[in-house]
Amino acid sequence: MTSRFTLDHRLPDDYFTTTLRADVLQGLTAPTRSLPPKWFYDARGSELFEQITHLPEYYPTRAEQEILTRYAPEIAAATRARSLIELGSGSSRKTRLLLDALTAAGTLERYVPLDVSDSALVQAGEALCRDYPSLRVAATVTDFEHELPVTDEPGPRLLSFLGSTLGNLDTAQRAAFYGILRRALSADDTLLLGVDLVKDPEVLVAAYDDSQGVTAEFNKNVLQVLDRELDADFDPDAFDHVALWNAEAERIEMHLRSRTDQTVKIPPLDLSVDFAEGEHLRTEISVKFRREALEAELAGAGFTIRRWWTDSRERFALLLAVPSR
Ligand code: SAH
Ligand code: AVI
Repeated sequence: MTSRFTLDHRLPDDYFTTTLRADVLQGLTAPTRSLPPKWFYDARGSELFEQITHLPEYYPTRAEQEILTRYAPEIAAATRARSLIELGSGSSRKTRLLLDALTAAGTLERYVPLDVSDSALVQAGEALCRDYPSLRVAATVTDFEHELPVTDEPGPRLLSFLGSTLGNLDTAQRAAFYGILRRALSADDTLLLGVDLVKDPEVLVAAYDDSQGVTAEFNKNVLQVLDRELDADFDPDAFDHVALWNAEAERIEMHLRSRTDQTVKIPPLDLSVDFAEGEHLRTEISVKFRREALEAELAGAGFTIRRWWTDSRERFALLLAVPSR
């Protein structure tokens, strides 16, 4: 690997024991059972997500790509960013449009992808260093809900959070996350946020319940993560994938529904969890946004929206926001 690529591990050594254990204990003993979606993304989960982005039903990636294709030069001109910092960067595929525009504008010095998935960061970093011969890639394995170690990056900085990963956080988690973001950004920095918009529930449910079953496999992969990391005995085949539209909260939810009465053991937690036939475990929320509410939410967190673009079918939005004065 070239010296233009660095990988900094910032997750605490006990992240996959202490934090995962705490999340699983809390999530599986609560009255409504749930798991935080960040645990999907081991190497297999990251690969499956990448497959999802190519599915005919999963429109968000293509819609966001359409917006970036059109407006990346404008984003580069408006921000004149020397550092591009990306949260939850995954494969960094769409990011290439920003890298191209910022390189053409002559301002970019560093790309700083942050992700919990080290396999995604290494794969993306290798490909980027191959294809961008003068780019420095400073990747960091970190949890953006805990810290954003980005203050040393040269400014102005463009901080991108694409793919509507914001929607995987609930209202309270988003508020805490905005606080971390606001503290990390200076007056001349800019936030680039991609969000999926409220639309016909049929289109939404299809995007999360594809005909090839890739999303079902992605969903069940979290059980394999628990089996491997916590020596649990979940049988992924004993659960069905469910995607549903929660109209009140305006969000898609992915669940795993128990096919039978069963008991799952998680020895390090000294935990036995009974699932009745048909009982649900929620594994992800994916909030869909409306402009006014998001604008108000961001304003309350100290951000002012400067630009708002959508794709030609108004399915997805990309916005530029700056710290409010
Ligand atoms: N931005 C890419 C990938 C989205 S998938 C795109 O738009 O296609 C979500 C990504 O966020 C995954 O790579 C996952 O590993 C990462 N992720 C999820 N929760 C995270 C967290 N709490 N901290 C850091 N990365 C996280
Ligand atoms: C990463 N995140 C924004 C995706 C989403 O659409 O909520 C994860 C995903 N879950 C199922 N399909 C894709």
